[in-house]
This record gives sequence, C-alpha cells and structure tokens, in this order.
Amino acid sequence: MKRAIIYGVTGQDGSYLSEFLLGKGYKVYGVTRRSSNDNTARLPISLNNKRFKLVQGDVTDPAGIYRLLSRAKPHEVYNLAAQSHVWTSFNQPSTTWDITAQGCLNILEVIRGMQKKPRFYQASSSEMFGDNFDYEYGDGEDAYQDELTAFNPQSPYAIAKAAAHQATALYRRSYKLFAFADILFNHESERRGETFLTRKVTKYVAELHMALLEGRTIPKLRLGNLYAERDWGYAPDYVRAMWMMLQQEKPLDYVICTGESHTVEEFIMRAFQCINIYEYRNYKEIDKKLYRPSEVPYLRGDCSKANRLLGWVPDTTFEELVKKMVTNDIQNRDRHHEDITPFEEAGNS
Ligand code: NAP
Ligand code: GDD
Repeated sequence: MKRAIIYGVTGQDGSYLSEFLLGKGYKVYGVTRRSSNDNTARLPISLNNKRFKLVQGDVTDPAGIYRLLSRAKPHEVYNLAAQSHVWTSFNQPSTTWDITAQGCLNILEVIRGMQKKPRFYQASSSEMFGDNFDYEYGDGEDAYQDELTAFNPQSPYAIAKAAAHQATALYRRSYKLFAFADILFNHESERRGETFLTRKVTKYVAELHMALLEGRTIPKLRLGNLYAERDWGYAPDYVRAMWMMLQQEKPLDYVICTGESHTVEEFIMRAFQCINIYEYRNYKEIDKKLYRPSEVPYLRGDCSKANRLLGWVPDTTFEELVKKMVTNDIQNRDRHHEDITPFEEAGNS
C-alpha cells in the first residue's frame, strides 16, 4: 500500500488531498500542529477512514519531521503547510518566513538524509510573480504568467514561497531528489478559509440572504482593493493536479490555473447575483486598512504545459465556483442561524 504524508492537512487543500489519496487506496499520515482549539473541522471524511492517521507535527520542528518520516517511510510527502494569508504576512513576516520558507527547507533536508527518498511535492504560488507578466501578441492579445515568467514577489509571503520554490529546484538538481513545485494560481472552495476574499464575500452574501428574509439589516461588507484581477479555480481540481504531478517520470514544475482572470469586483457581483441582487454597491464599503502595502494587480495563468504533459484540465468554471460557494454558505446558514459579523482583518496602521 502506498503511504503519503501531508503537511497542512487541516487546511483547505490538505483536506481535499487526503480524501483524494484515500480514494486512491493510500495510507495517509495527516500532520496537524498543536492548537488550543480543535482544528480538524475540514477532516470528518478522512478521520472516518481507517487508512488515515492524524499525527502531531510542525514544519518548523526539524527533529519532529525526521521522526515522522523515518517511522512512516512514506512514498510521497506533500508540503501544503504555510502561513498562507498574504495580508497577514505583512504583519507577521518572520513567522511567515519560518513556516513558509524554512519549513519547506526543513523537510527537504530530512529527505536528503534518507536512504530511501520519498517523492516530494511543494505547493508554490502565483503570488511569486508579483506584478510581473508576459505578453501574448496576436488575436487573443493578453497578459499571462507561465513557467517561464520571472518572479517579482510583492509580499513577505511571496518572498517566502519563492525561496521554498527555489530550494525545491536546487535540491532536485543538486541531490537528485524527486522534488516538484507547481505554481498554483488562486483556488477556492466551500472549505476556503473565511479571511480570504472569496469566502468572506460568500459568507456575507449568505448572511445577507437570511437577513433579508427575516427583515433584518446587517452591517456593510468591508473590503479593500476591488480592482485586482485573479485567476480563480476550484480546489478539488487543483489537488488532483498535485497527485498527477508526483506520478510523472521526470520531476518538472507546472503552472496550475484556469487561464481566465476576473476582478475582485466581478467575483463580488456574481456572488450577489446568486441571491438576485444586481446592485450590490449599497451593501459594501471600502476600508483602506484592508489594502495591502503592495498589491499583485493581475494574475492570469497559462497552463498549456500541464494540459500537454499531465493531461490536466480544470473541471469547474468561475461561474460554477461562485455558485457552489454561495449555495454552501446559504445551506450552512439555514442549519445554524447564528450571527456572523464579516471578518475584520487587523489594521496595519
Ligand atoms: P490553508 O487553508 O491556509 O492551509 C494551510 C495549512 O498549513 C493548514 O493546515 C495549517 O494548519 C498548516 N500550517 C500552518 N503553519 C504550520 C506549521 N508551522 N506546521 C505545520 N502546518 C502548518 O491553505 P490552502 O489554501 O489549503 O493552501 C495549501 C498550500 O497551497 C499552502 O502552502 C498555500 O500557500 C499554497 N497555495 C494556495 C493557493 C490557494 O489559492 N489556496 C494558491 C497557491 C498556493 P492550521 O489548520 O493549524 O492553521
Ligand atoms: N483577503 C481579502 N480581504 N482580500 C481582499 C479584500 C478583503 O477584504 N478586499 C479586497 N481584497 C483583494 C486583495 O487585495 C487581493 O487582491 C484579492 O482580493 C484576493 O485576496 P485573497 O483572497 O486574500 O487572496 P490572494 O490572491 O492575496 O492570495 C491567495 O492566492 C495566492 C495565489 O495567488 C492565497 O491563497 C495565497 O496563499 C495564494 O498563494
């Protein structure tokens, strides 16, 4: 039986990946760090499977990584652990570095020392491109990023991800590790953390829907920059790509994306349309504190290489993604009915 270790199993992607690998017959070791509250809310399906083992660990603790890898003798190690919130990384650059950059290096170093080396997967990010893109001339004239686009990171998070990405490539070249780092563009789902733009919006829309039905009013939705553009896909499609990559003969890096870009405002408009509100402006206000000191203005990936070499294509469209997220949040509101104040991020002033 194949064995895999997932660092970051309690997160959005980790939970989907664990279900995907269990479905493929793997034994899965899901690593969770110590938390004062239960952080396994996304894992009910995996926890019910006898082939899933929840183990304690932290990517900032090299000795613990060594112990786990030596004991479990995995065939594959997936590193999805990160302080993954870009805005937070400006407030906590050192923590972000320790987890997101050093954490990856800690795992690579342990693997380097092993006799039977597992395959290693690193979740790199389109944030590494920062404000850079390439340009395509011709009919479909448009800007894009692919595997050859140069990085110009615009946040402590992106710098840490770029360091981890380069470390993965270095260990592959220098020590012949079977190590991959794919460049994931934004991907969302019903399990997305509530402080990311998409989920913050869909939770608000669900709350508003209930409030309107009950004749209540709720505070406005507070937002930052509405003009940034993102290439948003559906997380389960992306974890499928992670596994497909690790099954290749030759370790290569891939861009994983949809190839479509939408503004933040477009996402918000679509979400409000799901509850038949076509003029949403009265429900939102701009809060300058939610702007980032430095923004990534435009992301649109070109995943031709993944299409060609992996046979990977995303299954879920932008419209379907927004609808799935809003519908799920409305269904959850129907079940719980508690008051939810839209999340307010800590100020940077
Ligand atoms: P997420 O929901 O924020 O999950 C991050 C995971 O990392 C959580 O399980 C978290 O544990 C864990 N973690 C944090 N610090 C850790 C530490 N010191 N030791 C061990 N685990 C730790 O992120 P995601 O959206 O699933 O993304 C998965 C990975 O893909 C991340 O590396 C992210 O940077 C990268 N990525 C994501 C996207 C995207 O759009 N989703 C795009 C590009 C790249 P807790 O649950 O305890 O907090
Ligand atoms: N979070 C958040 N909250 N973002 C807002 C808000 C708000 O209130 N208002 C506007 N935005 C804008 C941000 O400025 C950004 O341009 C965009 O919405 C998306 O923000 P996030 O959802 O926080 O995601 P991100 O693009 O910064 O980062 C995500 O994608 C990266 C891949 O490109 C994260 O998942 C990263 O971990 C990932 O690497």
